[in-house]
Amino acid sequence: MEAKTRAHSNIALIKYWGKRDRKLNLPAVGSVSLTLDALYTETSVKFGPDHTRDTIILDGKEASPRVQKRTSHFLDIIRKITDTNQRAFIRSSNNFPTAAGLASSASGFAALTHASLTALGATVTPREMSGIARQGSGSAARSIFGGFVEMHKGSKPDGADSVAVQLYAENHLDIRLLIVVISEEKKATGSTMGMIETEQTSPFYPAWVNTADTDIQEMKSALAAKDFARIGVLSEHSCLKMHATALAARPGILYWNKGTISVMHAVRDIRKAGTPVYFTIDAGPQVKVLCLPEYVEQVIDELNTIPEVRRIITSAPGPGVHLIQEPEL
Ligand code: PMV
Repeated sequence: MEAKTRAHSNIALIKYWGKRDRKLNLPAVGSVSLTLDALYTETSVKFGPDHTRDTIILDGKEASPRVQKRTSHFLDIIRKITDTNQRAFIRSSNNFPTAAGLASSASGFAALTHASLTALGATVTPREMSGIARQGSGSAARSIFGGFVEMHKGSKPDGADSVAVQLYAENHLDIRLLIVVISEEKKATGSTMGMIETEQTSPFYPAWVNTADTDIQEMKSALAAKDFARIGVLSEHSCLKMHATALAARPGILYWNKGTISVMHAVRDIRKAGTPVYFTIDAGPQVKVLCLPEYVEQVIDELNTIPEVRRIITSAPGPGVHLIQEPEL
């Protein structure tokens, strides 16, 4: 009745933003992501008949009522699938700041899904596991798999085909993602609220949805060709289009701060000077920079001259969710 799991975070190269069904958490668009070796969540889950409620210890402290509620609600989905009514004791730690746009919900819900299903002895395929993780957080569906991953938006009303699949394992392409940490404060607008406001008020939202499939197809052919420059151009485009769509909501959703914009300009300046480097940004101020391994040192040195940059984490492509003996965090 107990399992310990590690799940790695992922960063979308082609972004997910918007839901076609809020209750089942079905995405309005597909996405393509890279699972990250350097950022992960470790979660242990123990179910027991004597627990009277779900207890969630997050980074060593009892989770906030909001997180408790969201987690218990998600565990209800798992309890329904596995036909149990036992409550759980959960310990979960991230090796990076929680909820600052570093995809903690992706690794968090992927780890929780895998640990809970394993603890309850459920036999599900990775595809099914991805569909379950999606109900916790859309991006979590992708963290079930390592390497380069595609999330299908699906078309079935019950969400059975809204699942992620692995496109290529982590050794397909030797690239690096630099996570440029600018602020470790929690973000003001969570991704779910941001998506709802964008869907309801941004005049650009239909265009965002209508152009998503083309972006995915182009990214898949760039990945197949191992064309790093094309992958970078497409990633930057998807990021800017997502933020443009959110910025046009009323009121506009602005995840960037001064440091974010400085890093975006610096990346473009470095590129203009001849080093292939590209940025992407999620629902927070951090900038993620794609580059080839041989340029990591140079790019870090240049970005570290920007006063707002707190620290830079370098990540290679990482593995899918897996069991561990003992949590290290
Ligand atoms: O699934 P969520 O709630 O973590 O939303 C993810 C939204 C973005 O990170 C901005 C884009 C993405 O595809 O990961």
